Amino acid sequence: MSDNHMLFSVCSVAAERVFPLRSKVLLEGNAESCRFRHDENDSTLHLAVYRSDRIVAVATICRESLPGSASDAEWRLRGVAVEARLRGYGLGRLLTKLCLDHAQNEGGRLAWCTARESARGFYETLGFASCAPPFQLPSRPDVLFHEMHCVLPVEAASKAG
Ligand SMILES: CC(C)(COP(=O)(O)OP(=O)(O)OC[C@H]1O[C@@H](n2cnc3c(N)ncnc32)[C@H](O)[C@@H]1OP(=O)(O)O)[C@@H](O)C(=O)NCCC(=O)NCCS
Repeated sequence: MSDNHMLFSVCSVAAERVFPLRSKVLLEGNAESCRFRHDENDSTLHLAVYRSDRIVAVATICRESLPGSASDAEWRLRGVAVEARLRGYGLGRLLTKLCLDHAQNEGGRLAWCTARESARGFYETLGFASCAPPFQLPSRPDVLFHEMHCVLPVEAASKAG
């Protein structure tokens, strides 16, 4: 993809690389709460879109079962954030799809996320559905969240055997 002759590239990055944009876009600049529980796990994938040498979009997926579940086939999508002036160009969708591919390749059967109300439609376009009434988090009483699930397709090869 190019825009004003600037190239975009997507790569897997270390956790620290996603923290600045995660914190700026999702946590109102609060750098202290930008680390999530499974960020450093070997199976966790952090993706970043670079525009030239600057990160303009990030997303993370980690193996994490749903609250109350013990399944190791559940993956949590977290920290999907696109710089404001580059929204609407498909970067969020691209990163989310790559995250879902990763979970699926690792044997994931379900992806879930805690979506803020303003992003619910975005996740719906990617196959996620709300599965319970919305709720608020003590840390963000100003925002309504939805737990959303997306069933990951079983690969034909694993179906066969
Ligand atoms: C939500 C966000 C990640 C979407 O990223 P994006 O790159 O702008 O989205 P895309 O261009 O990939 O859009 C993919 C599809 O979702 C739709 N979409 C994007 N944002 C949407 C929104 N907020 N509400 C409803 N639909 C939305 C697009 O229209 C597009 O639909 P299409 O497939 O029919 O064309 C981005 O707006 C963002 O960073 N927002 C602030 C942070 C945030 O809320 N993150 C999610 C945390 S739960």
